[in-house]
Amino acid sequence: MIQAPRGTFDILPESAAQRRVVEEQVEKILGAAGYRRIETPTFEATELFARGVGEATDIVQKEMYTFDDGGGRSLTLRPEITAPICRAYLEHGMHKLAQPVKLWYLSSCFRAEAPQRGRYRQFWQVGAEAIGSSAPETDAELIVLLADLLGALGVKGTRLRLSSLGTPETRSAYREELKDFLRAHEAELSEEVRSRIELNPLRAFDSDDRGTRAVMQDAPLLLDRLDEDDAEHFAQVRALLDDAGVRYELDPTLVRGLDYYTRTVWEFTSDALGSQSGVGGGGRYDGLIELLDGPPTPGVGWAAGIERMLLAAHDLAAPADFVDLYVALAAPEGNRTAFDLARAARRAGLQAQLELAGRSLKGQLKHADRIHARWVAIVGENGVVTLKDMESGDQRDAPVQNVIPTILRGGAAA
Ligand code: HAM
Repeated sequence: MIQAPRGTFDILPESAAQRRVVEEQVEKILGAAGYRRIETPTFEATELFARGVGEATDIVQKEMYTFDDGGGRSLTLRPEITAPICRAYLEHGMHKLAQPVKLWYLSSCFRAEAPQRGRYRQFWQVGAEAIGSSAPETDAELIVLLADLLGALGVKGTRLRLSSLGTPETRSAYREELKDFLRAHEAELSEEVRSRIELNPLRAFDSDDRGTRAVMQDAPLLLDRLDEDDAEHFAQVRALLDDAGVRYELDPTLVRGLDYYTRTVWEFTSDALGSQSGVGGGGRYDGLIELLDGPPTPGVGWAAGIERMLLAAHDLAAPADFVDLYVALAAPEGNRTAFDLARAARRAGLQAQLELAGRSLKGQLKHADRIHARWVAIVGENGVVTLKDMESGDQRDAPVQNVIPTILRGGAAA
């Protein structure tokens, strides 16, 4: 039997209903702050991610689904959506619009990671990006919006970790300092960390290796090296979060898996998840648009995994499906009347279903009960209809043209 590819899953109707709740909350919370929805293509030029996300990242080195389009161009299924949005911002001249341009998305991403609970090869992200503002209020607003979303969905056990990565200049000076520090302790580091000192020394903070962790206790921290502007920006973001009552932990070693970040970075984790505890994260990416050949343009945003939010909000209830009218058949000759009645009911704005399985009348009533139909219209010979109120059990015969008006009046006599 052919099965769904490893690391992918089907979204069955029950979970589609839960996802609709997520989408409604996103629309409400982000819409209220002036964010508007955007959708970009599922695949993009590979170079967009190589440049945007960064050659040295795990995502680009190991996790991309890259293929040739048959014409010698390399395409990649998007592993994330920030770089595509910056591409779209440039391509559509959005710098001419009032800034910042505030966008949200809810789309699937693809990463060839080892599948486990909360980690998939195709997963869904909801995200928000504000491009064109360097105000610390933008960072704080986005963090608050993500906190609000997680709260509205009932995501359990969340913690917010916050840090600042400064500007590229501070960062590269710091990288040199960190490299010197790592080289001075080379013998105590894990093989993996040692082999990446040149390419990605920051990853040393991420290591699980005991020797490496011991060394990193005394490592210099970027947060202590921020220049005056960055330190001030970060102080303002923190003050705004404090005022908003959003609790966070400063985590000077917070490493995000993407290279485009500058200044503020953050991540929400949830204790309700296992090892894949990151529910949503983001940060500022003031250099990304320039990296994609655009003019210097600040940006900040986040993305959160839909599956992880749902896993950590285990009792998220979706509204039950509701059926106003079930059209049953007492005699096969009534089928055209029944078909018409169901169609007319839907046109009148009712949720109406038609018997489609050739059940006995008893079976049809049982089925109507199972799907919680409010009314059942039993169509008999020569167009006579018996309308049954499934709440009270009352039933009465009615001409077919009276069925819909009666239901719309809630059953009251005309
Ligand atoms: P990210 O941290 O790589 O950031 O991904 C965001 C969220 O996507 C994660 O917190 C997690 O919930 C979910 N996620 C990531 N990988 C997987 C996976 N394999 N399976 C299930 N869920 C996953 C970004 O993608 C950035 N673009 C966020 C951003 C937006 N930064 C600025 N703007």
